[in-house]
Amino acid sequence: MAQLRIPGPTPCPPEVLQAMGKQMIDHRGPEFQKLLNDVTDKLKQVFQTKNDLYILTGSGTGGLEAAAVNMLSPGDKVLSVSIGVFGDRFASIAQQFGAEVVSLKVEWGRAADPAAVRQAIKANPGIKAVLVTHNETSTGVTNDLRAISKVVKAAGKLLIVDAISSMGSIDLPVDDWRCDVVVTGSQKGWMVPPGQRQSGGLESALGSQDASLLLGLYQGQELSGKRAESVDADRFGGVCAFGGAGYDA
Ligand SMILES: Cc1ncc(COP(=O)(O)O)c(C=O)c1O
Repeated sequence: MAQLRIPGPTPCPPEVLQAMGKQMIDHRGPEFQKLLNDVTDKLKQVFQTKNDLYILTGSGTGGLEAAAVNMLSPGDKVLSVSIGVFGDRFASIAQQFGAEVVSLKVEWGRAADPAAVRQAIKANPGIKAVLVTHNETSTGVTNDLRAISKVVKAAGKLLIVDAISSMGSIDLPVDDWRCDVVVTGSQKGWMVPPGQRQSGGLESALGSQDASLLLGLYQGQELSGKRAESVDADRFGGVCAFGGAGYDA
């Protein structure tokens, strides 16, 4: 049997495999509604947030796209703090959605210096948001997100975090560190198959969404009020797998 010893996909524990092998339940019925609510609430504990958390279907890259689409409008200036491949990818996503990207590129193998982030923000006062990778999987380097957050928040900017390979494995208190949007992916520290991503945070971010031209996640938020209706069909399998992983009641 294959033994994957990579940051992701990680092997699935037997409980997860068993949960995915269970007989079908009504994906629009009360049983699934309860499971979705319970899993969402438990995931919020790991995110250490009291704010909204959404389970979406897609890859981690799709989660980064959702964050860019919902937080930014074409023409917005963003600071991309990149310390490797995935930082570059996040910058390229923002660029593809029309953001004006100012790059702070750090030599691969090193973490970003919060003082350099402060300097870059100072040199570009029009910046609306800062994109940061918490753990850069391509180099194995973890940024000091707490220190970077202090700098970003002191300047009054939005903080959008790629925590795809860190959340669940490395401490990331989303509310304490005042992250506006944090994206993770199920196939990493969560030990659940790929295809589910979660986005949490959004306390100060929701205000800025009024100014965003692309409202997918915002609509998703409204839709998620209906919880177990058609919007939940796509994430059914993944939510059941999270239930198996112990993220149910
Ligand atoms: C830090 C980071 N960002 C983004 C991604 C992309 O995630 P996915 O492969 O699910 O699209 C990965 C995947 O390895 C990652 O580790």
